[in-house]
Amino acid sequence: MFNTALIFNPSAGTSKRFSVPVVQELASQNLQSLPERYIRSEKERPNAFPPHHSDIPIIDMDILLKDSDLRRRKELEKLGIACQQWGIFQAVNHGIPLSLLNRMKGIMREFIQLPLEEKLKYKMQEIEGYGQAFVTSDDQILDWADIIALTTLPPENRKMDSWPRKPEDFRETVDQYAVEIQKLDNTVLSLLSEVVGLKPDCFINMFGKMSQTMRMNYYPPCPRPDLVLGISPHSDATGLTVLLQDDETVGLHISNDDKWVPVQPIPGALVINIGDMLEVISNGIYKSIEHRAVTNMDRDRISIATFCAPSMKTEVGPAPELIDELHPCQYRRFIRAEYMQNFFSGKLEGKKIDFAKIKS
Ligand code: OGA
Ligand code: NI
Repeated sequence: MFNTALIFNPSAGTSKRFSVPVVQELASQNLQSLPERYIRSEKERPNAFPPHHSDIPIIDMDILLKDSDLRRRKELEKLGIACQQWGIFQAVNHGIPLSLLNRMKGIMREFIQLPLEEKLKYKMQEIEGYGQAFVTSDDQILDWADIIALTTLPPENRKMDSWPRKPEDFRETVDQYAVEIQKLDNTVLSLLSEVVGLKPDCFINMFGKMSQTMRMNYYPPCPRPDLVLGISPHSDATGLTVLLQDDETVGLHISNDDKWVPVQPIPGALVINIGDMLEVISNGIYKSIEHRAVTNMDRDRISIATFCAPSMKTEVGPAPELIDELHPCQYRRFIRAEYMQNFFSGKLEGKKIDFAKIKS
């Protein structure tokens, strides 16, 4: 009942392998006490600070795409504020069929229910496949989750050995969903360019050839949700992240004003957050947001995060149009692979963009 976790060094192309439990198997054992490796220090525990309830902004994509008047201007302003002050919003009326969203969650749930032996056919190699990521030592505290990580776009970058063949429509569904999310990412990136007065394709062009990856998370029920985290606090290494989550189970928390705010799922909506690359490209106007996931005692939870980012070879830096005397350059330029090296070299922990920050 062990699976592998890999830590990967993208520039050297090497990886180191660790053995980690399959959390789903642990969770099915009616444990009397939780294994040490999952127990967080007191200050990291979900209830260390009482959750702060607040509504994160909801953006109606239909208004942004179809309206042409005042209503659109207002919604665009709302989107700008959401991405500057919160770094996250819930997109409704985004145009992706509900049937596809439900099937995406369905294929993950059906995969999880397969016999372990079948699932381990896809066990993680170079951070793709079924297992765990960001494990860098044998004694590190682990997340209460099993994941499937995949490179989804461009299609030529897919490592098909890591793509499950069961359920039967797994590959086809991921393929369809990947294309839909890429369209949505392009729409949001062009709207966010527009908000800061740039040509709509400005951010998209700065991303160069876009790369899309997916992290399908399975958070089994946990007998002591007060002691563990489903995913450690982090910001995403991406431009944008689109999160599809279970309709009824709260798990995602975002950091806002030094408080953890639970994100209440809205059926049919997609949660979109800013990642580190967009923070850099926008010269800090849009904020990549720290977030984490917690678990529940009597229910499991599925979420699917789709990340879009510049390709590994792209040079990333603030848009020159967004730098002036009042807005000095906040980040030095770097190749994305350099950032990823830094991102994957340690455990998942906080924001990892400081290495490029220009100190004033
Ligand atoms: C992620 C992530 C949050 C969640 O996969 O990067 O932040 O709610 N997931 O599963
Ligand atoms: Ni994340």
